[in-house]
Amino acid sequence: MIEELEKIPNSLVMRDGLEFKYFGSGTWKKSSSGKTLSVKNPYNGEIVGTVQACSTEEANQVILTANDSVECWNEKTQRERADVLMKAAKLMRDWANPLGYIMMKEIGKPLKSAISEILRTAEFFEATAEAGLQQEGEAIYGDTFKGFSRDKMSITYRVPLGVILCIGPFNYPFNLTGSKIAPALMAGNTVVVKPPSQGAISPLFFGLILEKAGVPPGVFNIITGKGSEIGDYLVQHPLINMISFTGSSETGKHLASVAGMKPLLLELGGKDAAIVLNDADLELTTKAIVSGAFSYSGQRCTAVKRVLPMPGIADDLIKLVKEKTLNLSIGNPEENATIGPLISSIQCDFVQGLIDDALEKGATLLCGNKREGNIMWPTLLDNVTTEMRIAWEEPFGPVLPFIRTKNIQEAIEISNKSEYGLQGMIFTENIDLAFHIAQELEVGIVQINGRSERGPDHFPFLGTKSSGLGTQGIKYSIEAMSRPKGMVLNLSDKGKLIKLCK
Ligand code: G3P
Repeated sequence: MIEELEKIPNSLVMRDGLEFKYFGSGTWKKSSSGKTLSVKNPYNGEIVGTVQACSTEEANQVILTANDSVECWNEKTQRERADVLMKAAKLMRDWANPLGYIMMKEIGKPLKSAISEILRTAEFFEATAEAGLQQEGEAIYGDTFKGFSRDKMSITYRVPLGVILCIGPFNYPFNLTGSKIAPALMAGNTVVVKPPSQGAISPLFFGLILEKAGVPPGVFNIITGKGSEIGDYLVQHPLINMISFTGSSETGKHLASVAGMKPLLLELGGKDAAIVLNDADLELTTKAIVSGAFSYSGQRCTAVKRVLPMPGIADDLIKLVKEKTLNLSIGNPEENATIGPLISSIQCDFVQGLIDDALEKGATLLCGNKREGNIMWPTLLDNVTTEMRIAWEEPFGPVLPFIRTKNIQEAIEISNKSEYGLQGMIFTENIDLAFHIAQELEVGIVQINGRSERGPDHFPFLGTKSSGLGTQGIKYSIEAMSRPKGMVLNLSDKGKLIKLCK
């Protein structure tokens, strides 16, 4: 681990050995609490490093600095802010291998996927810089409404909100933190990041990257600590002007209940269902379902979490999905095994509880239901009914239920009965029918003949019901992190030109 860290120039400034500091007001510091939190490798339990357990007073100091820095950052031109994001992207590309390695160690993501996550974030920063440069205001005449003329004109442009609190999840600790930081900075805001406790180390590198890229002290800050100790304090702080959060629906709902009138962007859980019609391309569908359900061991909010096949295709589909699932590699993330450890043993116990409940209620086990340490074998369950918890609850682990449905109407009903509404999928060659079904599904996005997923990152990404609030995606996030500022011009008759036509 130390060897990888040494590949990143100047990284010594942010740590003592494997004890990482937090970044506030442009400096790396240890918490005066004297306490640290251990980040353990979920694959083998080794301590990857420790991070500071900051106090509420330290959180307050960081927020005050971020607030004092809004004016200075907002005075920079769009071009200057875009240049900073471009430089940051370049550093991410240069350091993608060691950063990916560190992430692989702390969250057990396959090494290749962890490196791709860093590169995806670099691309996100570049595209955000480009989109920010295209931002435009608007001028509107008043004469749409009776009694008003073109002498009244509204002129709007966009201004930052102030200090944005960015709280990222463990499963994409770098990308889903970066996808909040880039639009926040581009829109002229300052940023306070609170990373997840598990997955806290890789996002700390944003401090180093952004400082080197030219972000002035105080504009970007990252504070570590227990969510239970500083989470509510950060969310409720009066100088936090907006919160962008990705995590569980439970935490998201709590956050919304304590945040008061702050604007929120919430990306929460899902129970994405794949409706498979009788004419679906079996090979394409199988590939999409298996990769959608089991990438990063199912620890994605957009994972395929239920399959609803029609009677004419169910047997063939299930056979093929089983064959492909049995071929998935299982083991060490450093060796790029598709199925690796879940983030914690508590999470494994939860997933096991869902499997046990389904089997007790009569589901058929097709494969899996085996555990070693934090690794759970990919598990397929057939003949799942709506009485079973796995039909409704989000496992965040490698288990996929097949709920055989009588017809399209029943599949739509089961799909919509979920408390979640992130994405839906329809597999068919009948595109007209797919569009009609898509219109019925109560979700943010419907994928036609593809697995549920967030990217590419300039697409809108949103969930309904318990799956989220607001819309992400590059231009949407910039909009969510800024507001229109308007001026109304009221021209008088002074100097009015005489018109010839009446
Ligand atoms: O779980 C978080 C969600 O954003 C997943 O992203 O790109 O794997 O669909 P993606």
